[in-house]
Amino acid sequence: MNPTELHERAEQERRRQRNLRLRLFLCYSTPCLSAGADRVKAVLDEEIAACNTDAQIDLEVVETGCMGLCSRGPLLRIVQADGSEKIFENVTPESAPSILDACLSNTEPTKVAQLSPDLAFFTQQTRIALENNGWIDPEKIEHSLARGAYGALAQALHDMTPEEVCNEITRSGLRGRGGGGYPTGVKWELVRKAPGERKFVVANGDEGDPGAYMDRSLMESDPHRVLEGMAIAGYAVGAEQGYIYVRGEYPLVAARLAKAIKAAEKSGLLGSRVLDSGFNFRIDLRVGGGAFVCGEETALMTSIMGRRGQPVPRPPYPAQSGLWGCPTLINNVETFANIAPIVKNGAAWYAGFGTEKSKGTKVFALCGEVVNSGLIEVEMGISLRRIVFDIGGGLPDGGRFKAAQTGGPSGGCIPAEHLDTPVDYESLKDLGSMMGSGGLIVMNETSCMPDVAKFFMEFCMDESCGKCVPCRAGTVEMHRLLTRITDGSAVPEDLQTLEELCRLVQETSLCGLGMTAPNPVLNTLLYFRNEYLAHVDERNCPAGNCTLDRIPLYKLPEHVDRLAILKERS
Ligand SMILES: Cc1cc2nc3c(=O)[nH]c(=O)nc-3n(C[C@H](O)[C@H](O)[C@H](O)COP(=O)(O)O)c2cc1C
Ligand code: SF4
Ligand code: FES
Repeated sequence: MNPTELHERAEQERRRQRNLRLRLFLCYSTPCLSAGADRVKAVLDEEIAACNTDAQIDLEVVETGCMGLCSRGPLLRIVQADGSEKIFENVTPESAPSILDACLSNTEPTKVAQLSPDLAFFTQQTRIALENNGWIDPEKIEHSLARGAYGALAQALHDMTPEEVCNEITRSGLRGRGGGGYPTGVKWELVRKAPGERKFVVANGDEGDPGAYMDRSLMESDPHRVLEGMAIAGYAVGAEQGYIYVRGEYPLVAARLAKAIKAAEKSGLLGSRVLDSGFNFRIDLRVGGGAFVCGEETALMTSIMGRRGQPVPRPPYPAQSGLWGCPTLINNVETFANIAPIVKNGAAWYAGFGTEKSKGTKVFALCGEVVNSGLIEVEMGISLRRIVFDIGGGLPDGGRFKAAQTGGPSGGCIPAEHLDTPVDYESLKDLGSMMGSGGLIVMNETSCMPDVAKFFMEFCMDESCGKCVPCRAGTVEMHRLLTRITDGSAVPEDLQTLEELCRLVQETSLCGLGMTAPNPVLNTLLYFRNEYLAHVDERNCPAGNCTLDRIPLYKLPEHVDRLAILKERS
């Protein structure tokens, strides 16, 4: 297929869609599927089959990716030929026929909850990476083409040199969305300039943070967007082979990506002589075993090469020596999802979003104690308050905001006094947290901060690969101390030991997992030290979460050194 044919095929699909009287977009992504979207679809199919033939050819049901408001799923968006739309929430097999009937007869369905398209959840987002989510069937390449997929690749291949593509990405200010925030264009340029006959492009879709599902949703809902970003990267850095690495717990992602790769190859959008150019680019899928550490770039690459996924020291960095010793570009899937819009609309357009140092938008999985939990994409620099109270709709049941956890096991909890902080890389870091890959958990007064720190430490302890001692033994010891704090058996000196251990593990671990595992502890000690002290000194959990009197504490006479006794015992 050449660029003209690509354009014609897209236009043909757009024409087909414009001629439909009714389009029913049913969310068919994991959360809505687990809430029964497949049963709703079966009922809609039956109802449509019972309609007369004219009606049948006039409407279609589109099984889409995530629309965002996952907590209210299954969601069904109905769009009329004039563009007017209605969104129904919590759709069931029982309510689906009445919704369809009402839309066919242009009346309002009764007893079915509707979401207003004017809801702040929708209107206060800025969608770039997620712009097609909920509007296309990810398993139908024509749907993606109609929304402009592979147009930016055609533009890069036919109108730009690899150097120009790298420059455009640099000028856009895009930074890696995998957590570290490294400037993407700088990384691309390093790989482009690295000497070597063979180079590789890798998309990191491992996504192991607890509560995070941004990358899963992106890949499930718009796989061609990620593939197109990878292909543009391949052209820019001089690679002919790409790998997309997905964790084993994401079977739907793997199935949709495999289908998308096949469809793109069949259309000449991947493979040999892409879009009638001299550029060849293949993408292969690699499914990991689900270890969190395999998201770390060096571990991920050893896993792709068929070895045990364990980190190795850097330097050399992947850009110099990655897969099979060749220069390798590794980026997060959300980073790749931003590439096509930047090439299409220009670096200046993208740099117009966000703050001075954090450009563009960021996708977050907003969850926890918040009315509207789901997947959101917001402009960098938006305040946490707007995310939680406008987009998220505040806390349910009149709950009081206590903290928002960002950055997963490498991040921290941001307290209420910092609700107006702009959400960008630097501001979150200054608060002792981090942007991370995009998990955002809202907590109310019943969340106990030492217990939250213990939860993340337990995660790191379980996920530590065991290669280096500070992380392997340090996470176990930090977890033991946090357990003592939350079960009431800690002594005041435990806090000091905990802090010392945090610094030691931070400074001496081999990879990011160990280096950042102490962050949730240090950060909660910074903002919620009183809670730790209440546990240790008063055996009291202010949040009412911990049971502190399971281990009896005997009142000792004044002259007895309780600490010495405990130390001796242990
Ligand atoms: C323990 C650990 C887990 C990680 N998991 C992921 C992950 O799931 N996805 C991801 O993109 N990056 C992850 N990273 C960061 C990667 O090592 C790497 O920096 C990133 O993929 C680079 O892409 P970017 O520049 O687009 O952010 C992880 C890092 C560490 C230390
Ligand atoms: S820091 Fe932890 S996860 Fe990383 S290499 Fe050492 S033991 Fe493995
Ligand atoms: S999965 Fe349906 S709205 Fe997110």
